Amino acid sequence: MDFHGSAPRASIGAFPQTRMRRNRRHQWLRRLVAENRLGVEDLIWPIFVVEGEGKRQPVASMPGVDRLSVDLLADAVGEAGDLGIPAVAVFPYMAQKLKTPDAREALNPDNLVCRAVHAIKESQPGVGVICDAALDPYNSDGHDGLVRDGDVLNDETIEALQRQAVVQAEAGCDVIAPSDMMDGRVGAIRKALDEAGFEHVAILSYAAKFASAFYGPFRDAVGSKPALKGDKKTYQMNPANGDEALREAALDIAEGADMVIVKPGLPYLDIIHRVKTAFGVPTFAYSVSGEYAMLKAAAEVGRLDYEASLMEILMSFKRAGANGVLTYAALDAARLLKDAES
Ligand code: PBG
Repeated sequence: MDFHGSAPRASIGAFPQTRMRRNRRHQWLRRLVAENRLGVEDLIWPIFVVEGEGKRQPVASMPGVDRLSVDLLADAVGEAGDLGIPAVAVFPYMAQKLKTPDAREALNPDNLVCRAVHAIKESQPGVGVICDAALDPYNSDGHDGLVRDGDVLNDETIEALQRQAVVQAEAGCDVIAPSDMMDGRVGAIRKALDEAGFEHVAILSYAAKFASAFYGPFRDAVGSKPALKGDKKTYQMNPANGDEALREAALDIAEGADMVIVKPGLPYLDIIHRVKTAFGVPTFAYSVSGEYAMLKAAAEVGRLDYEASLMEILMSFKRAGANGVLTYAALDAARLLKDAES
């Protein structure tokens, strides 16, 4: 039975005829009446890449998460693929000297992300590869767009994103994920991809991306924190707004987004539910770096059971209506799901 937003259809009798606990009495029965399921096919694993060889650099604020050099990606993504994880999302840690005000390294067909995509597609062609379209790893201002006189420019940024998307598609990327929140970028990227012959490359739009404190550890992981001047509130959404998230999603879908992301995840379950209910498009939660760090920190000091809390959080996204979740704990979750099967 689907309770999403609608009133229960069965009439509800009163105690003692009705005892809700009856359906909870046995494990087999709890399994039988479960309304939602979490499977390994629901997981997208975000990974961080770094220049060099044989490099595995722990991200201090995200225990258990490493930046990997390109040569180590085949094995890491191979493990994910073997576990049944459908896709990975690739994020670059860029050397400071490659960050410029025009973010030109984003457009270099031989940049770190493109080489990473190439390596993954070569060794693991069956695993989907998702790349962010946004300039922040490459921009000496740390912003997702180009900056002039303190303003994050919209239309000029879109031109750069179009080229960035095409360069990533040329490298073999399957899905472009615009995470920049510029207006009109989804339509522009769709047009650029189509004109370059990449009409089969999908767009997974960060449709509702909030200006969140929970991105802190990610900015550590990609090294954009020291660069960032100010905050991202002129393009990322105000956490107070829900109706606006629906307008954002509607626009992105109209412009050609194949799938949408709500980000962060846990503090925005209501948004996931509303977007999925309103549009019925494939909708993903991004359980961001701060959510991961928060759970890890609590588990490390013995305040929470990591595994049980993780699985409960992931299930909450499914219950809210998400088709899947981007999570740094994807490998942990996949292993737990596998153990539960055997
Ligand atoms: C940047 C980008 C961010 C994340 C994904 N892409 C950070 C930001 O907007 O500052 C956040 C991911 C996370 O916190 O896990 N375009």
